[in-house]
Amino acid sequence: MSKSFFITTAIDYPNGLPHMGHAYEKVVADLYARWNRQLGTDVFFLTGTDENGQKLVKAAEAEKIPTKEYVDAQVKAFEKLCIDLKISKNDFIRTTEARHHKTCQEFWTKLEAKGDIYFGAYEGQYCLACESFYTELQAPDGLCPVHGTKLDAVKEKGYFFRLSSYADWVRSFISDNPNFISPASARKEMLNRIDKEPIRDLSVSRPNAGWGIPIPGHEDFVMYTWFDALINYLSAVATPDLFKKYWPADMHVIGKDITWFHAVIWPAMLKAADYELPKQIYVHGMVLGEDGKKMSKSLGNGVDPQTIISKFPIDSFRYYLLRAIPSGLDGAFVTADLRMRHNSELANDYGNLLMRVVKLGMKKCGSDFSPEGVTGHFNFETLGAKMAESMNEREHHRALELLWASINEVNLYLNDKAPWKLEGADPKFKETIYNALYAIHSFGTLISPFMPEVGEKTLFSLGTENKGMRGLKFGIHQFKLVEPPVLFPKMDA
Ligand code: ME8
Repeated sequence: MSKSFFITTAIDYPNGLPHMGHAYEKVVADLYARWNRQLGTDVFFLTGTDENGQKLVKAAEAEKIPTKEYVDAQVKAFEKLCIDLKISKNDFIRTTEARHHKTCQEFWTKLEAKGDIYFGAYEGQYCLACESFYTELQAPDGLCPVHGTKLDAVKEKGYFFRLSSYADWVRSFISDNPNFISPASARKEMLNRIDKEPIRDLSVSRPNAGWGIPIPGHEDFVMYTWFDALINYLSAVATPDLFKKYWPADMHVIGKDITWFHAVIWPAMLKAADYELPKQIYVHGMVLGEDGKKMSKSLGNGVDPQTIISKFPIDSFRYYLLRAIPSGLDGAFVTADLRMRHNSELANDYGNLLMRVVKLGMKKCGSDFSPEGVTGHFNFETLGAKMAESMNEREHHRALELLWASINEVNLYLNDKAPWKLEGADPKFKETIYNALYAIHSFGTLISPFMPEVGEKTLFSLGTENKGMRGLKFGIHQFKLVEPPVLFPKMDA
């Protein structure tokens, strides 16, 4: 049986256009999906949109169009973003789809039958933008801690999930499974929060006003949108075939503002419904504005991903997100910094290496380079193994640093050997170029999950195929060179 890897992003609220945070999360998840595929793993990569919340109704009302019509139009921009960013998703789930409604209703029925859902009355402070209640401890001033806006006092009858009865279990689970929440800082924060605040039962219904997933047997209510949203991860693999192959999820990629929902509420829901738990919740940081503050309309410090996509090669954008923002930490998006890295790390270090080696080889020796009689100077199997270690530790920026250290090493090697001073017939010329081509093949392979187009074009210029880790061995490639395209045209300010 082949290994499988089920990876998901959060599902986005489509009540606005996709923003930099959405782009970042998709690129990070795509990297891990592609990396695992390259290792020969059977990957299922899911992303999608979260469409049942009240804020979608409000947004559609403001546009004076029916909610479904509004949502259908909005979702197109999220699907386009996936295409533009080369997101290798296997499925895009929309929570207004029938398959999702069915899974949620079955899930609900199971919990209610077990007695884990009961009818009661709730009273609390609600933020519509977050679709979330806040306790007095979290919002002592009655203001949303995320948006700073006044919370709405809500008092209604409805259904509750017995989250409190899973509190001790969740705490032990998180503490006994150190890899469940990654990075360790996010895990620590969750444990602290559990210790500080009592975990209360969760209100999981809203009065049915014509939008949302009707509660089976109680159709005057719909499900609380977070309750249904989390279940999307199950809905996408609900067929027996997919479920058997991919459940439990291996990696839920989410932002730090929604860790509680994924690390506390979701495991409790799954435990209550007798499902195996996901292997890992990977928590990324927030993309900040140039000023180091949260991107927001009112501060005017936001950068629209589509603006960047229209100006830079897509792989330069991906590279910047994956290298400049250390995994698990917040990081500012600075367009000037992207331009600088594009011109120096990408065009100079990588693009020039490819260009000068292939052109020089072709000029002095023609297109064909074989390993006969060549002594290996490098070992990139070790580089592959070290990068894999960083990827397993979810430190993708570190994997890129390792790759760049090797690229620079090969540039120094070339400067040292100066093959441009040698005759094509000199065995030292062939030796140097073959070693450099082996290096470039290895870099093209290892870079592919980060920068798919660059990887493909690199290997195309060498006349080789991506054989994953197996292809990192010295001496197994016959190169047939083709003049490479300019991968990173210089960008002026
Ligand atoms: O929270 N930087 O949707 P969403 C990085 N529908 N990531 C960011 C970010 C930023 N500036 N802003 C948001 C939701 N994100 C729910 C999820 S999942 C069952 C339901 C991340 O559109 C955020 O942390 O507000 C989340 O992981 C994702 O974008 C979608 O956020």
